[in-house]
Amino acid sequence: MIKRLEEALREAGELFLKGYRAPKEVRHKGTVDLVTQYDVAIEERLIKRLGELFPKYQVVGEESGDAEKRPQKAIYLDPIDGTTNFVHTIPFCAISLGIWEENTPIAAAVYNPVLDELFVAQKGAGAFLNGQRLAVSDTADLQQSLLATGFPYTKVNKGRDYRWVLQSMANLLPHTQDIRRLGSAALDLCYVARGIYDGFYECNLKPWDVAAGILLVEEAGGRVSDWRGEPYRLGDPVIVASNGKNHDKIIQKLADYEEA
Ligand code: IPD
Ligand code: CA
Ligand code: CA
Repeated sequence: MIKRLEEALREAGELFLKGYRAPKEVRHKGTVDLVTQYDVAIEERLIKRLGELFPKYQVVGEESGDAEKRPQKAIYLDPIDGTTNFVHTIPFCAISLGIWEENTPIAAAVYNPVLDELFVAQKGAGAFLNGQRLAVSDTADLQQSLLATGFPYTKVNKGRDYRWVLQSMANLLPHTQDIRRLGSAALDLCYVARGIYDGFYECNLKPWDVAAGILLVEEAGGRVSDWRGEPYRLGDPVIVASNGKNHDKIIQKLADYEEA
């Protein structure tokens, strides 16, 4: 399964790279939510290829799918995670693909063609970057933890998500080494798996943003939960991922999502 996923991603990666270097047509899906012709073309190409390779699975892709859909055998696909970076030629963007069966992740692949970094994981078989096994960091001290986060597009209406982002940042920032916002949730999760970040949290992510990264973190020895420390389910309002050792300390500082 992983070999076939890798081949499909490397193929699609050629189109990604062509688009990354070329002038693009940029449209707005929302006030700040961008989409290019490459998001659409990569998704179309991968849906066709994945249909040939894995006919029993239903693809739920960002550009053509429904974020509420949870097929029994699903492939959650983000053709470009980090489109804003892609548009601005910041090399932190990737194709993300997570295979789930009955609400459990079984295989994952995240490919950043710009840096030629291919992250893969299979349930029970570990997580790898370009063939090298990954392991989370072992920093238990929150003050020495480098965290990452993201700002959902829903912040622009200055509602609950906006308040939660600001409150959580105010609570956490003084107690961490620092907080990064690089702009691709899929890669943020890969960087937790890789031990570069000690933790990551964000609200309002969609299944295609996290379906692959969750398995990568878990297979690298980390922990993924919701904002209360309960098991994370696709569609939950907040995701928290960490090396496991500092997890409860991150959760204690996050704002209460329901009261934000
Ligand atoms: C976005 C990225 C970003 C996160 C946003 C996502 P997109 O995905 O993952 O890091 O902060 O919440 O929507 O739109 O570039 O596919
Ligand atoms: Ca995304
Ligand atoms: Ca996307």
